[in-house]
Amino acid sequence: MAEGLICQLRRNSDNCGEVVEEIVRIEKRVFPKHESLAKCFEQELRKHNCGLLFSEIGGDVAGYVMYSWPSSLCASITKLAVKENYRRQGHGEALLKAAIEKCRTRNIQRVSLHVDPSRIPAVSLYKKSGFLVDTLVQGYYSFDRDAYRMYLDLVETN
Ligand SMILES: CC(C)(COP(=O)(O)OP(=O)(O)OC[C@H]1O[C@@H](n2cnc3c(N)ncnc32)[C@H](O)[C@@H]1OP(=O)(O)O)[C@@H](O)C(=O)NCCC(=O)NCCS
Repeated sequence: MAEGLICQLRRNSDNCGEVVEEIVRIEKRVFPKHESLAKCFEQELRKHNCGLLFSEIGGDVAGYVMYSWPSSLCASITKLAVKENYRRQGHGEALLKAAIEKCRTRNIQRVSLHVDPSRIPAVSLYKKSGFLVDTLVQGYYSFDRDAYRMYLDLVETN
């Protein structure tokens, strides 16, 4: 079980700059350039409908999840990553769960995301957390890289 503390990034907090720098470093390592938000991270965070949670262990950022809610009804998980040395300790699951809870408190009805089907750990985590595959979006990342669009409904529809 993850032991990290899950914090919400607040733009006016003392450590905001350091946390963003560390996340950008992880972002550059984990995601290919065209998929990375490294260059526009701060710009993304300034959007009023965007949230970022990070997991902290002894002052170190273990992982982060970014989510946004384009409308009052639906939200997207836009980024999720855990630093290599902290993987398989429950941080990814805890971060995803915390982001879903944030969406729930906003009365969001559906949380969606896109994921490369070859990212086996991520697909497995999303399925474990209740996400279902909606469709395969061909050429989503690049001409030869598709994405699963996945969703989780937070309210019963019947
Ligand atoms: C996906 C990722 C966030 C998972 O983080 P994590 O902290 O290692 O995951 P957890 O320890 O919380 O594991 C939770 C579940 O994820 C799945 N999972 C995690 N690592 C896995 C692996 N190597 N192989 C298969 N399933 C895996 C399992 O379902 C696991 O549940 P279990 O422990 O009961 O088997 C991490 O591997 C990562 O940062 N990957 C690179 C970035 C990425 O692909 N992000 C998603 C982009 S959309």
